[in-house]
Amino acid sequence: MAILRIIETPDSLLREKSVAVDTVDDALRTLIADMFETMYDAPGIGLAAIQVGVPKRVLIIDLQEPADPGDEQSPPVKDPRVFINPEILTHSDQDVPYTEGCLSVPDQYAEVLRPDRIRARWLDEQGVGHEEDLDGLLAVVLQHEMDHLEGVLFIDRLSRLKREMVLKKLAKARKERALKAA
Ligand code: NI
Repeated sequence: MAILRIIETPDSLLREKSVAVDTVDDALRTLIADMFETMYDAPGIGLAAIQVGVPKRVLIIDLQEPADPGDEQSPPVKDPRVFINPEILTHSDQDVPYTEGCLSVPDQYAEVLRPDRIRARWLDEQGVGHEEDLDGLLAVVLQHEMDHLEGVLFIDRLSRLKREMVLKKLAKARKERALKAA
């Protein structure tokens, strides 16, 4: 397994549309294993293949929610999920705000509106098809990651003013980091 480099905005690769996977094979499973290692190391709760430079319709999610929902400090439960060629079949009419972040827009967070109940279809890492109703954070993260497959980032879903604010903060954080490293 290997930790891969996560590409960040404004890398033009993030704007590429990912292509459907036609064979779920060992090479793809190796990519998925590397993506999990990369995501846990970051750390993050979702990662699309394009974020490590691979324009394939593959994404992974692990919400790593605390074992005891009443205790934020309890150890997170690992719940790795793989979505290959995911599709959203239906979604609720009402949009719900969630504060989103993205490993390709590091350390920046903003509220995004999305339907929080969806019915989705995908293949797992064995090539087996699934169709399920998903809600809450899992539904939101899946939609965020599916946006990556279309070359869309969560900041694209903000008002222009908010997006510019986030990008300004990102530029400032990068400058500070560069100064510290100098
Ligand atoms: Ni993201």
